[in-house]
Formats: sequence, C-alpha cells, structure tokens
Amino acid sequence: MILVTGASGYLGSYIVHRLADAGRPTRAMVRSRAFAQKEGRLAGLDIEWVEADVTRPESLAGAMRGVEAVIHTVAIAIEKGGRRYEDINYQGTVNIVEAAKAAGVRRFVYISQLGANASLPYRFLASKGKAEDYVKASGLEWTAFQPSVIWGPEDEFANSFARLIPLTPLIFPIVGDETARFQPIWVEDVASCAIQSLDDRDTIGQAFQLGGPEILTLEEIERRTLQALGAKRIMIRFPMPLLRFFVALMEILLPNPPVTRSLLELLAVSNVTTANAIDRFVSQPRPFTAENVAPYMRQFRVKDTLAQFLGR
Ligand SMILES: NC(=O)c1ccc[n+]([C@@H]2O[C@H](COP(=O)([O-])OP(=O)(O)OC[C@H]3O[C@@H](n4cnc5c(N)ncnc54)[C@H](OP(=O)(O)O)[C@@H]3O)[C@@H](O)[C@H]2O)c1
Repeated sequence: MILVTGASGYLGSYIVHRLADAGRPTRAMVRSRAFAQKEGRLAGLDIEWVEADVTRPESLAGAMRGVEAVIHTVAIAIEKGGRRYEDINYQGTVNIVEAAKAAGVRRFVYISQLGANASLPYRFLASKGKAEDYVKASGLEWTAFQPSVIWGPEDEFANSFARLIPLTPLIFPIVGDETARFQPIWVEDVASCAIQSLDDRDTIGQAFQLGGPEILTLEEIERRTLQALGAKRIMIRFPMPLLRFFVALMEILLPNPPVTRSLLELLAVSNVTTANAIDRFVSQPRPFTAENVAPYMRQFRVKDTLAQFLGR
C-alpha cells in the first residue's frame, strides 16, 4: 500500500491517478473526504481513503497501517486562517515522519521545493528546508524532490496570470525584475519522478532538483500565458516597491489574496536548477509553451477572479 499525503491537492492528485492507473494499491490521505469528493479530483478511482491531518499526530497512525511507502506532498504556500508554514510544512512533516517510523514504514518520498533551505530568511523556503533536513536525518529510506514551479491544468502559476487578464484590459503588469528566472516543470513529469523513485533503490538517500526544459523570465511566462489565451496587452514592468505596496494592500483587503508578501520575497531566490535531474526520470519533459498551455487554460471572467480573491 502506498500512502499519498495531500492526495486531493494539485500534485498529489496527479500522483494518485498515476498510481491507481498502474494498479498499485493506493491510500489517499485527505483532511476531509467529503470536501475532496466534492472537488472531484480523485473521482472514479479505485483507491482507499483516509482522513487525517498532519498537525494532529493522533490522526496519523491509522493512515500508516499496512503502508510500505509514503509520498508526502502536504504543504501550504500561503499562510491564512491561522495556518502557518511552521506548523504544516515543518511540524506536519515531522509528524508524518514519526508516524511512518512508529508504523515500521521504511520508504519515504518527500516533495520539497527548489531553493528550500532552513537557513534562508524567507519563511516559506525555510520551513520546506527544515522539513527536508528532518526527512534526511530520519533514518528512513528517503528520496527528496525539489521541483521548480509546477505547471499544468488548475495550476496556481499560469492561472494566476490568466485570472488577471479580465481585470487588465489594456495594460498587463510585468511582475518582478529581469533577474527572476523560473524553470517551469509539467505536473505529470513531477508525478513520474516521484513514482519511479519508489521502485528505484538507487534514489534512496538522494535529493533531486527538478526543472523543465527551459529557463524563463516571468515576463516570458506572462507573454506565453497571454498568447495561450489569445489576449493582447501592452506589457509594463511593475517596480518592486509598487508591487510590494499592492500586495500588502491585497493581504489586508482580500480574504484570499492571489499573492502574499512572503511569496513575493521568493522572486529574490533563484528558481533555476543547478543540477537538473529530470532527464534521469523523464526522457522528454514537456516545455511551458503557449501551444502546450492553451489546451487547458480557461478564460476567466471578472466575476471569477473577484470571487477567487474574495474567497467565495
Ligand atoms: N505547485 C508548485 O508550483 C510547487 C512547486 C515546487 C514544489 N511544490 C511542492 O509540491 C507539494 C504539493 O504542492 P501543490 O501545489 O500540489 O499544493 P496543494 O494543491 O495546495 O496541495 C497541498 C495539499 O496539502 C493538504 N493539506 C494542507 N494542510 C494539511 C494538513 N494540515 N493535513 C493534511 N493535509 C493538508 C491540502 O489539503 P486541503 O485541501 O484539505 O487543504 C492539499 O491537498 C508541496 O509540498 C509543495 O511545496 C509545489
């Protein structure tokens, strides 16, 4: 039995689909089965379900029963409603590792983040780095993956720019300075890496950086997203201080801001691999091109965008 945490999340749901399609016994760990079923990402799959919360260690023992390997994807990128990076990304991982050890599980695949580092002043990356360090020191048969930004249907990457399109009929803001670079990686490619590593004992004790085949500036990413949606805009670079001001304002005014200051800080950290391991697992990683993005992008309406920001 493979336990996938964060099973109804974006990456987690792709991993569960792939495991189930391959006929591997899979247990999907979610906080609320009713909510996950309403969302429908795992609809129709022949899987086991378990409800558990990484912040409640007592809920995890049942999830681990009979498990041979864990793929741990749970994390939050935005802190809201009292949910903190430290509690979920770090302590949540500690709780999952300890529950795995207590249940005699040996194999553990951790989905980290490119640039994760416990000593950074950026709280999100520091929480992921601390969690990764804990996994590495756990004594489990661990493998860690550090993906750059992940793209695909329902991502919070290209879609966050797509959402802005109806609000910016003429001018589109270029976010970040020219130095911010990303290496977008296709969600199915990340899922492939995680699943292959389960059966590849040579990956034990290793952390793999994962990036897509191209290194892109945010401006290029925005241009490709606009092109995918057939939207024409005059693009103007937003100076960082102005952007910080707007983001701070959004954090105060919106229940569900699309960006927060702690995410904005990440633009200062390279999101480009120094040693890309994708070729070890995937022979032809899919590039983030307008043609590849177009089939899954949907046209957002002003109403959709506002509803999302207002958390409705
Ligand atoms: N997306 C990217 O671009 C990207 C890039 C690099 C690395 N990663 C890493 O990939 C992993 C998955 O990211 P994602 O984008 O798929 O995130 P996601 O869609 O937000 O999924 C995260 C999942 O974690 C679950 N979760 C949150 N708090 C929990 C708790 N207390 N107990 C149990 N489950 C909880 C969420 O369930 P609920 O729905 O119940 O909240 C959700 O299903 C993360 O570790 C992230 O750091 C992502």
